[in-house]
Amino acid sequence: MRKKIVAGNWKMNLDYNEGLGVFSEIINMVKDEVTGTQEAVICSPFIHLHSLVQLAKGYSKVSLGAQNAHQAESGAYTGEISAKMIKSIGAAYVILGHSERRQYFGETNELLAKKTDTALANDLRPIFCIGETLQEREANQYFNIIKSQLVEGVFHLDAAHFSKLVIAYEPVWAIGTGVTASSEQAQEIHAFIRKEIATKYSQEVADNTTILYGGSCNPKNAPELFAQPDIDGGLIGGASLKSRDFVDIVKVFN
Ligand code: 13P
Repeated sequence: MRKKIVAGNWKMNLDYNEGLGVFSEIINMVKDEVTGTQEAVICSPFIHLHSLVQLAKGYSKVSLGAQNAHQAESGAYTGEISAKMIKSIGAAYVILGHSERRQYFGETNELLAKKTDTALANDLRPIFCIGETLQEREANQYFNIIKSQLVEGVFHLDAAHFSKLVIAYEPVWAIGTGVTASSEQAQEIHAFIRKEIATKYSQEVADNTTILYGGSCNPKNAPELFAQPDIDGGLIGGASLKSRDFVDIVKVFN
């Protein structure tokens, strides 16, 4: 059975001390309030990551991730962080292909395929983000866009490597806008993604793939979204900056 995951993406928010404070609250609440086997992941800025891994020691339900990693193993790339560095401090995940990286940093499917290979080679689990813009949705191109993000970004992997991925569907028009995809809209795309995985790999691989929804997800709308058969959790932006809201979303699976 696939894992239910609620992951927080802090983006470029919270200074070091603020981040440690919010994270300490999160692990205490998760410890006291979360039952069952679900996993909570916080993807923090690089600056916080080592300290958060240390704080999370002994809390098996809380894992850490980065928000980006470079495609090269190492080398003369001033200012960049490698997958090996991220792995070496004990983080488990890395977000790749977030729409903000695609939009503001020009990350293409081709580059993201390389980043995915390097992350997997260093034993990090990519949370691979896909999703259409408002224009693409209005032009009814969203199935094509999502399919090409999968085909060009991750479908070069063999089944064993693909099975390490978490996929996150984040419609760009729902990110940080307060406009959530309806549970029907999200379910439609999640079912489509799972069908594409089944066609490319196998039904078994598709059934075992965790597919998260992201975009203005909050404690109010998470129960209906997560009740959909193909939605296995969320990738949470704004609401992950508030410990109470984030843990309330994690607790939807209690
Ligand atoms: P918001 O939850 O703030 O809309 O952000 C979603 C997101 O981009 C998570 O990666």
